[in-house]
Amino acid sequence: MPTAGARPGAPAADWDNPLRDPRDRRLPRIAGPSGLVVFGVTGDLSRKKLMPAVYDLANRGLLPPGFSLLGFARREWEDQDFAQVVHDSVREHARTEFREEVWQQLAEGMRFIPGDFDDDAAFKQLRSAVDELDASRGTSGNYAFYLSVPPKFFPKVVRQLKRHGLARAPEGSWRRAVIEKPFGRDLASARELNRIVHDVFDPDQVFRIDHYLGKETVQNILALRFANQMYEPVWNRSFVDHVQITMAEDIGIGGRAGYYDGIGSARDVIQNHLLQLMALTAMEEPAAFDADSLLAEKLKVLKAVKLPENLGEHTVRGQYAAGWQGGAKVRGYLQEDGIDPASTTDTYAAVKLEVDNRRWAGVPFYLRTGKRLGRRVTEIAVVFQRAPHSPFDSTATEELGANAIVIRVQPDEGMTVRFGSKVPGTSMEIRDVTMDFAYGESFTESSPEAYERLILDVLLGDANLFPRHQEVEESWKILDPVEGYWESHGTPAQYPSGSWGPEEADEMLARDGRSWRRP
Ligand code: BG6
Repeated sequence: MPTAGARPGAPAADWDNPLRDPRDRRLPRIAGPSGLVVFGVTGDLSRKKLMPAVYDLANRGLLPPGFSLLGFARREWEDQDFAQVVHDSVREHARTEFREEVWQQLAEGMRFIPGDFDDDAAFKQLRSAVDELDASRGTSGNYAFYLSVPPKFFPKVVRQLKRHGLARAPEGSWRRAVIEKPFGRDLASARELNRIVHDVFDPDQVFRIDHYLGKETVQNILALRFANQMYEPVWNRSFVDHVQITMAEDIGIGGRAGYYDGIGSARDVIQNHLLQLMALTAMEEPAAFDADSLLAEKLKVLKAVKLPENLGEHTVRGQYAAGWQGGAKVRGYLQEDGIDPASTTDTYAAVKLEVDNRRWAGVPFYLRTGKRLGRRVTEIAVVFQRAPHSPFDSTATEELGANAIVIRVQPDEGMTVRFGSKVPGTSMEIRDVTMDFAYGESFTESSPEAYERLILDVLLGDANLFPRHQEVEESWKILDPVEGYWESHGTPAQYPSGSWGPEEADEMLARDGRSWRRP
């Protein structure tokens, strides 16, 4: 039994362990008999993330012995060619050490189906491969279909799965569909996509990947808020001045011009990652830690989001110009390969939102994201009001900022609390200091990569970390008016690569008497 990496003394596989209480999250959660079919297996995501994640799961002993991996793509490959490609991507990108015995076991369950999505013969071959693997490797008819393909292909693939009897599970087994963002480009297209997918798969068979939810630090937002007593009493409009959610990247668009141009930063990450972070930060305590309860609370937040009336003053979009980054000269967005030189696509976006409910009324949530910014950092900063009164004279506190709790999502995972402290010396002077929690210092356990966690959850049927179609649609309802406004008002503001975005974004906060953090 390949339980390499499992806790010593842990059962070889927990699906056949009658003593295992499925609610006990301390035991390793090991997937039962199953297989994964990846469409678009030759793409970047598959090579850099999905294949290495599958190997890492196997290496940690979290996949069943007969786990099978099927690739589907338009290449004239045999099974062994596919296995070689997976091998190379594992060697290059896996996070755990390479072990020949784990690899061999995994490789024996690899199959490749050549064909395009219109090709009935290829889907017939896929069906035979699934039947053969059920018999030879005991996958028990349990399959997840991962659509790592552009959304324009979703309708074809799901219809083919239905037509060839692959979408419905045989008695006692399961079938699941995994879809990657973008989930549409606006509300109308997202609804259409959901309609097409739900025509074939029931909503609880569909797992939408927002890889931010698979990040350890993002899952920790709920632990921090609801497993402790000291944060919730101040987590509301009586104490909080505003919240800033930042997802800054130093990279440009790389080789993704085809996807990115015409989509832009707000659709690319605000609609999904940042609104999810906001929902987790603002939501009420769920009745239970399960998918339905989490959905109910996140949905309440998203429905309560209110856009400011004057979108011109409270939103900003920008586009990176040439500049300096890491000591090197980098070109601007309009000079990138494959970009229309007249493109008005945003590579930076900032929006002010409010959550119109009793807890948050009047507290702005500022969301911003951008490519080619000063450095890569994602954080949620809850910034508190000033103390209502100070017994010290004003010179004592003139350098004091506002108290803040900063959840550092990445790269320096942890949390910072900022507060004032007396400066040592003979006079009373108070200055900001920070108290830090760092994952690396507090835990010896390492965080799984987001895709590892999410693929495992798909195989386990645990939907907690997957946005449902209702959330996707609510998020588009928030973003559509902003995109509509931008389309009819001017062009994005230019900002130099390596900076912190356009000046207009600073002015946007300055109008509210606030300023962006410089993380
Ligand atoms: C993706 C976006 O969802 O997230 C990319 O499409 C972005 O544009 C990426 O670069 C960032 O992910 P991470 O995990 O590196 O923060």
